[in-house]
Amino acid sequence: MSTQNTAPTVEATAATASPTGRIAQHRRYLMCRPEFFTVSYTINPWMEPANPTDTAKAVRQWQALYDAYLALGHEVELIDPIDGLPDMVYTANGGFLIDGIAYGAKFRFDERVPEGPAFMDWFRDNGYDVVVPREVNEGEGDFLLVGDTILAGTGFRSTGDSHREVGEVFGREVVSLNLVDPRFYHLDTAIAVLDPVEGPGGVERANIAYLEHAFDERGQAILAERYPDAIRVSDDDGAVFGLNSASDGYNVIISPRATGFEAQLRERGYNPIKIDLSELLLGGGGIKCCTLELRRGTDAP
Ligand code: ARG
Repeated sequence: MSTQNTAPTVEATAATASPTGRIAQHRRYLMCRPEFFTVSYTINPWMEPANPTDTAKAVRQWQALYDAYLALGHEVELIDPIDGLPDMVYTANGGFLIDGIAYGAKFRFDERVPEGPAFMDWFRDNGYDVVVPREVNEGEGDFLLVGDTILAGTGFRSTGDSHREVGEVFGREVVSLNLVDPRFYHLDTAIAVLDPVEGPGGVERANIAYLEHAFDERGQAILAERYPDAIRVSDDDGAVFGLNSASDGYNVIISPRATGFEAQLRERGYNPIKIDLSELLLGGGGIKCCTLELRRGTDAP
């Protein structure tokens, strides 16, 4: 369908159309330089403290991601890393923000609990309205905004009660999905949001990519019904954290190991950009984990 005669929406004017009609939208992200990154405890199957980590290499790889966002015209804010909180680089877990409201994180494991208040302080200091969580939840690791709907993961980290709470905070539909494979313990390891918003003229462009086997049967059925055009990635691409990627609607930053997913994205008119975060994968995180979207209110400067 042609949208050429449609008056541009706010999103469309702030965006750049690609040759394939995909729309790259401006993004504002929060990242944390991994100056204190290491693997000193195990809270997911990827973490093996006996294996050596190279903090300088983690910083170099992280810098490549940061630079890529800036080169694409996105804005990246930084939160100071804290010594003794090696997982703070995974800012996606620090909260979940829509329209200037920051729903804080309450981490499942003691090792990460102090990160919750540290992120909430940053949100407050930077003009967001903070909602202190009652329920255990790990922010955008388990909550993904797709169009107007919040997809919410549970099974390993965020609780089902937090799904109710996030729905109350934002007044939006929440769809709960059960994760069943411990390697894919956060929702953002099993689903990538490709087109998060409605396009010009209200045309629903929201689409996702996902790893079927990370979900129970009920979850698989929900995803198949809601997203018939979704990209379903192979188990091999899922196993290298291929889905832990960041899309602006056209450019999709992915792991260089996810070769099948790369081809699927190209077929659909997206522009995959490969960034290797192998060192950060030792902590069980990838591109999306290192990226928290800061959605400001519409009246923000
Ligand atoms: N070591 C961290 C943890 O297990 C990794 C977090 C990855 N973050 C994510 N959004 N999936 O909590």
